[in-house]
Order: sequence, then C-alpha cells, then structure tokens
Amino acid sequence: MKIFIDSANLEEIEKAYSSGILDGITTNPSLIKKAMEGKSNIDMENHIKRILQVAKGTRVSLEVTEFTYDKMVEQGRKLFKMFNPVAKNVYIKIPANPSFEGEKNREFEGLRAIKTLSGEGIPINCTLIFTPEQALLAAKAGAKIVSPFAGRVDDYIRTLSNISFNKSDYFTAEGRDSLNDNGIVSGIDLVRQIVDIFKRYNIKAEVLAASIRNARQAREAALAGADIVTLPFDVIKELMSHYKTKEGMKSFTDDAIPEYIELTKN
Ligand code: G3P
Repeated sequence: MKIFIDSANLEEIEKAYSSGILDGITTNPSLIKKAMEGKSNIDMENHIKRILQVAKGTRVSLEVTEFTYDKMVEQGRKLFKMFNPVAKNVYIKIPANPSFEGEKNREFEGLRAIKTLSGEGIPINCTLIFTPEQALLAAKAGAKIVSPFAGRVDDYIRTLSNISFNKSDYFTAEGRDSLNDNGIVSGIDLVRQIVDIFKRYNIKAEVLAASIRNARQAREAALAGADIVTLPFDVIKELMSHYKTKEGMKSFTDDAIPEYIELTKN
C-alpha cells in the first residue's frame, strides 16, 4: 500500500519525506488555508512548486476550487500547465459531484470534467467520494484515483446516531448494530466496498483512502485493500508509536554497560 501525506505544510512534508516512507501528497483548499495560517506575503506559486520538488518522483494532488464543468476544466488545465512541468508529478483533484446542497441538474459536471481532462492526458484524482457508486462512475469517466473520505463517513454516522466524538476518535470498521449511511456501516466499509467492486470488474483506478484520522483506521484501510492511504502528519507519527516500544527503549538504554558503549566511541 502506498502512503501519501495529507498536507500542504512544507515543513511537515519535508520532515515526513526525509524518512523515505512517502509515495505522494494530497492537498485541498482547506489544507492550503491551514498551511498558510499566520503567514503574510504568501507566494502561493512558489510554495506549491517547492512542494512538488520535495515530492519529485511521487505524485501530488492539487484540487480545483471551481464547480461548473467549464470552469473546473479551465482551472484544471491551468493548474496542470503551471505546475506539472516542475517535477511531472501533478494530479488534478475533481469533486465527484460539484453541486451544492439543494442544487439539482448539475450532477454530471464532475464526471464530464474528469472525462475531458483525462482525455487530454491530465491524471485525475476524484475527491469527496461517499458511495461506491460515485467511485465506480468516477473510474468509468477516467479518474486514475478515487478518494473515499472515510473519516467523514464515520462523522456522519456518529452524528446521525447522536454519538459524541472527537475528530481523531476511532470508530469501529464493522459499524455498530444498525448504524449505517445507506448501507455503509463505516468509512472503512466504504473503502472495502469500493475495493471489492473494482476487483470484481477489474477496474484499474486506484482506491485512495482519505480523511483518515488515526493509526488504527489507517491499518484497517490497508486490510480493506486500499491502494493508497493519505495521512495527516500527526497520524503518520501515531503509526510509529507504541508505549511498549518506548518502555523497551528505556530499559535497553538503561542496561547498556560502558564496555559495550565504548566499542563504537571514536
Ligand atoms: O484527505 C482528505 C482530507 O484532507 C479531509 O480530511 O479529516 O478534514 O475529513 P478531514
């Protein structure tokens, strides 16, 4: 399974990349806003170019902010033209369904944009996927990556069920009793169902588990067969953390006798 970092924060990205574990980066407008908090004189173009250079050899998703077919296509082309030459690693993120609450008759705009841009050789990551059907249609339209938002599914199911939670709280992949969102019992269940459908029909698009909030959910995304998981910096750190590792470190360093330590001094 490939691991991406879900961040637009250059420091986090550089630090995580230096460990050699990363296969790509996902960004979105909210992550860019967060990365720019408190900064003045923002040079956005340079910031994104630096991210792309750090990620050289791996893939970086940049998201459109428009939501009509024409404008998404125009913006997707511009983003690709402006940034892909830096390290030849740009994917354009297009929402599965760019219509807003209460809007009708624009459900196909995302799919049409995916079809047009993919047809021009621009690789697409279809984002904001909440059903296996959306993933299937996005892949059929030409998306190379589909991104189910696992954590937000768990948020939705827990909110509907009046379960209080913090953003990083684990929610069981198996769901609870009859809690579900249209037959999806958890965010990981959504990932699993998409993986199963893609396998059954030999669909080549990669399944990228997004909106992952904790280490256990990341593990479950791997078990569900996700091709890629994208993780916030803190979740990547959490993946490496166990209290018995720390306890073991303490006892091994406490036990090291001088004669052994001296062997490698000088
Ligand atoms: O990968 C998508 C992600 O950035 C959304 O995460 O935690 O805001 O649902 P979250």
